[in-house]
Amino acid sequence: MSNHEQHENTHGPVKRNGMSRRQFLSYTLGGAGAFMAAGMSLPMIRFAVDPILQKKAAGTWIKVVEESKLTNEPQEFKFKIHQVDGWYVSDPELTAWISKDDQGKAFALSPVCKHLGCTIGWNTEKNEEYVCPCHGAHYTKDGKNLVVAPKPLDEYDLKIENNWVYLGPIKANTRV
Ligand code: FES
Repeated sequence: MSNHEQHENTHGPVKRNGMSRRQFLSYTLGGAGAFMAAGMSLPMIRFAVDPILQKKAAGTWIKVVEESKLTNEPQEFKFKIHQVDGWYVSDPELTAWISKDDQGKAFALSPVCKHLGCTIGWNTEKNEEYVCPCHGAHYTKDGKNLVVAPKPLDEYDLKIENNWVYLGPIKANTRV
């Protein structure tokens, strides 16, 4: 090897195997930044989606009235439900018309008219029927639609425990 070649080899760019100082710094700072960003944003994401992830209380039953108070004649009972809808919590008051059938079995009907949603009343025209004051829909004691309304009145799930009537979710009428 000539002197000239030797000189070039000693002053050429130094090749190193492994990580340069610049790479090491950018990896370290980048990793630390990503870790801190994740640490700050995870609580915010959790706060945003938490109500969506919460399990809803399945099959909630509301204690409404003692069974001994029920009669064959429908009676109006009011009760409150605890409702959580995302971040909105409320306790709306609901109404049910509860009575016993000829076999002594209790059932509860929704007061919402199936025509356009007005509130029905029992026997308001002294005809032993539910009547809607808005457009004159009539229903039997079982909630069967007679005129105007296209469907029977909805029904509440109902169970009796320790002589108390409990109401559950509203469902389509099962009696007619
Ligand atoms: S809303 Fe009841 S009859 Fe129209």
